Amino acid sequence: MKSSQISGFYKLSVKERQEIVKKFAELSGDEVKILEQNGLSLERAERMIENVVGKYELPLGIATNFLINGKDYLIPMVLEEPSVVAAASNAARIARVRGGFKTKATEPVMMGQIQLVNVKNPEKTKKIILKNKKKILELANKQDPVLVKLGGGAKKIEVRNLAKNMMVVHLLVNVKDAMGANAVNTMCEAVAPFMEKIAGEKTNLRILSNYATERLVKTTAIFDKNALGGEGVVDSIISAYRFADCDVYRAVTHNKGIMNGIVAVALATGNDTRALEAEAHAYASRSGKYKPLTVYKKDKNGNLVGSLEMPLAVGIVGGATSHPVAKIVLKILGVKSAKELAEIMDAVGLAQNLAALKALSTEGIQRGHMELHARNIAIMAGAAGKKVDKIAEQMVKEKRVRLDRAKELL
Ligand code: MEV
Repeated sequence: MKSSQISGFYKLSVKERQEIVKKFAELSGDEVKILEQNGLSLERAERMIENVVGKYELPLGIATNFLINGKDYLIPMVLEEPSVVAAASNAARIARVRGGFKTKATEPVMMGQIQLVNVKNPEKTKKIILKNKKKILELANKQDPVLVKLGGGAKKIEVRNLAKNMMVVHLLVNVKDAMGANAVNTMCEAVAPFMEKIAGEKTNLRILSNYATERLVKTTAIFDKNALGGEGVVDSIISAYRFADCDVYRAVTHNKGIMNGIVAVALATGNDTRALEAEAHAYASRSGKYKPLTVYKKDKNGNLVGSLEMPLAVGIVGGATSHPVAKIVLKILGVKSAKELAEIMDAVGLAQNLAALKALSTEGIQRGHMELHARNIAIMAGAAGKKVDKIAEQMVKEKRVRLDRAKELL
């Protein structure tokens, strides 16, 4: 059995880490090379967006210790911020004590919207559209026979009155392993002229909704009170959660921490991070008040129970998931479906949040940041091997993380 529980991973060299990941995910030597040397060619970059003049690289780190629905995962994360990967690994290590993360995603259903404008007779229009439901769904499904063959496709239609003379038709589509924007947009554009014809009304926008309320994931984990540092820490974390629950200024930062994890995995896997941010923050406001996306409580034994429910529209096919690095990242994750990827990302979001709340309600987050910063300064001063940690440790202790001090200690 493969385990993601690797102590001291951070102390290894990049080469040693690569070796572990290579073994874990059965990567080839070429695949490891792609990770190291950035697999995106300029030609390919030029086909991705317009007016390309170059490429932009970010670090790809691996969070360890993740046990999700009984399976071990190494989590690739792409981001510029220090401490996030270490924090996720740390929270995952604590979650492991009581069985790791339990998570479940709904079917990957996305919604397309077709706006009807200057509607003369809303009641009649609604009746006509619903009466032709079967034909509309058939026409939508004709656009994507592959998706239909896989068991996906347009499944349901809803009609809503929005304002005076404005209506919207929702097309609910099971997009299977894709994020779904392309499939849904194509379907919406295909059915709109037919709707205009049968209803004698005019359509305007035909576009996917990024508020993916039909595509939810819920993750729960029990964080052992002793592994957290005692019942006092559990109480402080619950108090930190309450702070976010009653104050929007704190809730936004709280949710930003969750997105640190989710967006990092989204970037690594070639998913649309803006879509995830949009749906997350809208979901946080679903009660009419912006709230933290996670919820914490204590169980009868004094352990901390955390959960995270949110929409996560991510895919493992289509879009930028064919980026050469994203393809290897998906292999490292070993995911078989978009649903599984969404479940992993939700678990990472919960881990990230727990780690942030634990650090904030105990020693603060600056020490962790400082340690990494100090290591970088030590390297800049010319330190190598064990000396890096030794000098960094001393500088943090002295609260003098500066190049001149690192040079003195060398
Ligand atoms: C920093 O990127 C994220 C945190 O601010 C999140 C939080 O405050 O919960 C540490």
